[in-house]
Amino acid sequence: MKTIFLIGYMGSGKSTLGKALAERCEIEFVDLDDYIEARAGKKIREIFADDGEAAFRELERSSLLEVSEKTNVLVACGGGTPCFGDNMKLMNERGTTVLLQTSHDRLFERLKCGRAKRPLIANLSDEELDGFIDEQLAKRMPHYGKSSETFDSTLLEDADQIDGTCKIFISRFGLPLKNNQQQ
Ligand code: S3P
Repeated sequence: MKTIFLIGYMGSGKSTLGKALAERCEIEFVDLDDYIEARAGKKIREIFADDGEAAFRELERSSLLEVSEKTNVLVACGGGTPCFGDNMKLMNERGTTVLLQTSHDRLFERLKCGRAKRPLIANLSDEELDGFIDEQLAKRMPHYGKSSETFDSTLLEDADQIDGTCKIFISRFGLPLKNNQQQ
């Protein structure tokens, strides 16, 4: 299997979908944020606070380089991964990039509950978050738009939805199922 990079805005479901696919499929799964935290020995929010965003982006780049050496791997990237340096080019050369897409409202609802571990939005009010999503998405779209594929990640809110969305993803991208799984 060609490596698959899940990309998309914060809250688009990269980690949720990636984990669920890895439970069902014979593939290695890497969550890039977890990989970075393990390498740095600290949480993303601590890296931002202690060393700054530029240091985080360097760690992100070197982690991406390491991970993209692997084969048969599914990678859930961070929301900003495609938007720095030539990360997008690297991912498109090494595998298939799949942009997860959902509505602004769905992103907003997910991020309202998931602010604490995300330093870029941790201190924003609801109103500020609402505006920030639009502003930042507009800036990031030129990078996200270079993905080889797009995939609707709206339905990931409960176990049934996750199961249905995984089935669609698995059949569309031809992921190998584990022996105990039925399509
Ligand atoms: C970031 C997204 C985060 C994480 C870091 C920066 C971004 O990942 O990499 O907080 O720049 O959008 P998620 O998209 O998994 O939240």
